[in-house]
Amino acid sequence: MDARQMKIEAAAEALKNVENGMRLGIGTGSTAEEFVRLLAEKVAEGMSVRGVPTSERTARLCLELGVPLNSLDELPELDLTIDGADEVDPQLRLIKGAGGALLREKIVAAASNRMIVIADESKVVERLGKFPLPIEVNPFGMTATRIAVEKLAERSGLAGDISQRATNGSPFRTDGGHFILDASFGLIPDAEALANGLNTIPGVVEHGLFINLASLAIIAGPAGLRTLEA
Ligand code: A5P
Repeated sequence: MDARQMKIEAAAEALKNVENGMRLGIGTGSTAEEFVRLLAEKVAEGMSVRGVPTSERTARLCLELGVPLNSLDELPELDLTIDGADEVDPQLRLIKGAGGALLREKIVAAASNRMIVIADESKVVERLGKFPLPIEVNPFGMTATRIAVEKLAERSGLAGDISQRATNGSPFRTDGGHFILDASFGLIPDAEALANGLNTIPGVVEHGLFINLASLAIIAGPAGLRTLEA
C-alpha cells in the first residue's frame, strides 16, 4: 500500500462516523483532502452534511467538489471534526500546522463535540517533537516574540533552531495574515507545560500542540488500520 492509499484508507474509515445531518469540521492537508473527496461522493449520493472548513485551501476543494459549506459563525457548534496531523502520540496529543492552518484547525476542533484524527503510520510517535513545532505569531514585534519563545525554551530545557517559515523566499502568511515560526526543539518532555508557556506569550497567536482535543485517531499502515483512543 503506498502512502496515498494509506491516507485514503484512514479517511474512508473516518467517514463511517459521519451521519446524515451532521455539522462537520473539515481539516486541512493531504489526508484531510482524501476525506473531502470521499465525503463529496457521499454528498453526491444524497447525504446531507454542512461543513466548516479549516482553511481557504480546504474551502476551495469543498466548493469544487460540491460539499456544502458554512462559516463557523453560522455553525458555532459542530458535531465532529475530521483532520490530519503531523504527529500523534499514544495519549492523542498532536503536533499540527505543517500546512499552516493550525489556528483555524484548533478553533474548529475546540468547537466540535468530537475530533477524529486520520493519519498514516509515519505520524505516530512515542513522544512529540521529532517534527518542528509550528508557532503562529503576529507580525507585529515578531522579533520580540521570537526572543520570548527562545527564553521559554531555555527555561524548559529545550534547545534548537527557531526559523521563520518562508515560501519562495517570502515570509509564509497564514489565512489570518500571521507568520509561522517552526521550532526544532527535538523531543518535548512536557508538552502541556510548553503549551501553557506558549499561551502566555502575547505575540503568539497559537501553537501546533493540540492537547485534549482528539478522542480517536485512525491510523493506516501497510498491515491495515488501527485506532488510538483517548
Ligand atoms: C495543516 O495545517 C496541518 O495541521 C495538517 O493537518 C497536517 O500537516 C497533516 O497534513 P498531511 O495530511 O498532509 O500530512
